[in-house]
Amino acid sequence: MEKKIMKVGIVGFGGVGENIARCILKQADIKLKAIAEPDEAKRKKAEETYGLKAYADYRKLCEDKDIDVIYNATPNFMHPEVAITAMKSGKHVFSEKPFSIKKEDIAAMLKAEKESRRYLQIDFEMRYSLLCKRVKELIDAGEIGEPKNILFNHFCGGQGFEKEKTWRAKIENIGGYYIEEGCHRIDIFRYYMGAEMEEVMAIPAPQVRGPEGWYRAYREPASTLCFFPGEKLANLITIQHRAVYFPPPGMENELGHEYNVSVVGSEGSLYTNFWKATILLMDFSGPGGKTCLKRIESYRGIDLNVLHHNSCGFFRDFVYRMRDGKPPFFNAFDSWKTMACAFACEESIKKGGKRVTVDYTLPEGQ
Ligand SMILES: NC(=O)c1ccc[n+]([C@@H]2O[C@H](COP(=O)([O-])OP(=O)(O)OC[C@H]3O[C@@H](n4cnc5c(N)ncnc54)[C@H](O)[C@@H]3O)[C@@H](O)[C@H]2O)c1
Repeated sequence: MEKKIMKVGIVGFGGVGENIARCILKQADIKLKAIAEPDEAKRKKAEETYGLKAYADYRKLCEDKDIDVIYNATPNFMHPEVAITAMKSGKHVFSEKPFSIKKEDIAAMLKAEKESRRYLQIDFEMRYSLLCKRVKELIDAGEIGEPKNILFNHFCGGQGFEKEKTWRAKIENIGGYYIEEGCHRIDIFRYYMGAEMEEVMAIPAPQVRGPEGWYRAYREPASTLCFFPGEKLANLITIQHRAVYFPPPGMENELGHEYNVSVVGSEGSLYTNFWKATILLMDFSGPGGKTCLKRIESYRGIDLNVLHHNSCGFFRDFVYRMRDGKPPFFNAFDSWKTMACAFACEESIKKGGKRVTVDYTLPEGQ
């Protein structure tokens, strides 16, 4: 039987929204019906460059009975309003990270999901991207035994200390480093460990040039320690945004991140280098009981976005699941747990790196 062509709409036609539009337009089995965007110039671009119908008010897009799924690519502070309206209008929603910048709004979004009987998927897309997915497969297959210790090094690319001048310049629009950015890494820690974080310590980075030198409206962390049951530990090392790492010329807008991640297990370890697109596996019980290199997996020649920023592939997967009546890759409540850890990190960094217990209780009465 022929499968239904799902019809989708995108709210927010900025960096992410346009990127997703370009990608979905290449898809024969998904129809991008319209976008919504308050900025006139961007609407014009959507109409003239891509031949799309463009609404100024996202509520008009939500009212379109023909649309099955909405991609919410609005700024962080708009996520709850758009997602709740869309679900109440009967649409499944794929919503950008962060879930929301306030716990109360997350509770309201989860409530709307339940009451509307629609699905809400948060774009923690690293989980869906090829390299992270492969690492998770290797862990689940027992290649390194039980994961015990993770080290995630993250450098953000760019052209030095440039202060952000968009909506991201205001802290009330983004929420904080962990809510805006660190949540991706925290999500990966939970995913790889297959366990829930109990406590966190978010240690602020030394002040290099003071608040004037901050890239976004927050002081960044140098190190984030995430404590799991059974003395398992994950550590995120970050370096002052856009100060150190420069992507190869011509690739500044392609990626803007440099990652490498080590996972040490009870029987072996693995190391992922995202730029080099390799996963290196070590075995602790090689010949003579010595640690040896088990193998190197290489994923060269694959689109970098597919390797570690696969929002488009993840969205496509969500749309197909909605078409086929299947649940999402992971549920929204799971993403709430990642955000609960992010909120604990925000509290810890404000307290200068004090150890904080993660509170997984959702605000009541939403
Ligand atoms: N998953 C990821 O890795 C990833 C990467 C980048 C950005 N993001 C997230 O995606 C979202 C969008 O980021 P971006 O970089 O595209 O920002 P952007 O500023 O480029 O785009 C946001 C767009 O939303 C529009 N907008 C504002 N209010 C609106 C409204 N009421 N209705 C419709 N549109 C509205 C803005 O005019 C703008 O065009 C953010 O939440 C961001 O955190 C996620």
